[in-house]
Amino acid sequence: MARIVAGVATSHVPAIGAAIDQGKTQEPYWQPLFAGFEFSKRWIAEQKPDVVVLVYNDHASAFSLELIPTFAIGCAESFAPADEGWGPRPVPVVEGHPELAWHIAQSTILDEFDMTIVNRMEVDHGLTVPLSLMFGQPAASNFHWPCKVIPLAVNVVQYPPPTGNRCWNLGRAIRKAVESFAPGLKVMIWGTGGMSHQLQGPRAGLINRAFDTAFLDGLTRDPAALARIPHVDYVREAGSEGIELVMWLIMRGALAADAREIYRFYHVPASNTAVGHIILENP
Ligand SMILES: [Fe+2]
Repeated sequence: MARIVAGVATSHVPAIGAAIDQGKTQEPYWQPLFAGFEFSKRWIAEQKPDVVVLVYNDHASAFSLELIPTFAIGCAESFAPADEGWGPRPVPVVEGHPELAWHIAQSTILDEFDMTIVNRMEVDHGLTVPLSLMFGQPAASNFHWPCKVIPLAVNVVQYPPPTGNRCWNLGRAIRKAVESFAPGLKVMIWGTGGMSHQLQGPRAGLINRAFDTAFLDGLTRDPAALARIPHVDYVREAGSEGIELVMWLIMRGALAADAREIYRFYHVPASNTAVGHIILENP
């Protein structure tokens, strides 16, 4: 069987991508943030996953208010970086893994998850910033990402987003799907977005370190409890965009109950959000 070897969660703040693209990673504002991913870059270079199932949300780049899939899986051969208003990020085209993506689509849909199948899609910072953080910027002489990527987009933009429990259960269904795929593939699952952030209104810039820390602790120690957090608690405690954290539960649901935390990092601020990052390895 194919195997999920690890899960990664990380924020996907667009300003992080801009800092990388504009060569600002060593500036005093950004240096501490990028230092927090040095371990992760070394770790993933050793791990060498074949495929990453990358859970993220689209920010009105591929979808709009005209079309809002709750869960959408990218089954295409490739996904170009989206133009989010300043031209596409100067990062490689993302190579997909259609065979595994179709297999996950089939398995999860037959398990009664209403997954939207996407055969053409551009991917925005929600997907490309985590790739940049984990792999660094690919050199011009070798301009490709080191693994294949299956985009899994989740609606956390327009109410109602899926519940944390639904996300957790989708993660479990993805694990079942991957483990019933042809043997030999080394798969990772990433959850992105979060942590606490609120982008507008009188509470803009809200950071709740206590909530974020408890969420990171819960991912390792008691993820089932996190799956019971209602939407209103995310909004109240972590800000209106803090709801992105439900995507981390898809990642966690796809891992074993006794997955081991091997690294975490927390940093405030990046733009006006808290950046959280955790790596969990399956036993
Ligand atoms: Fe986002």
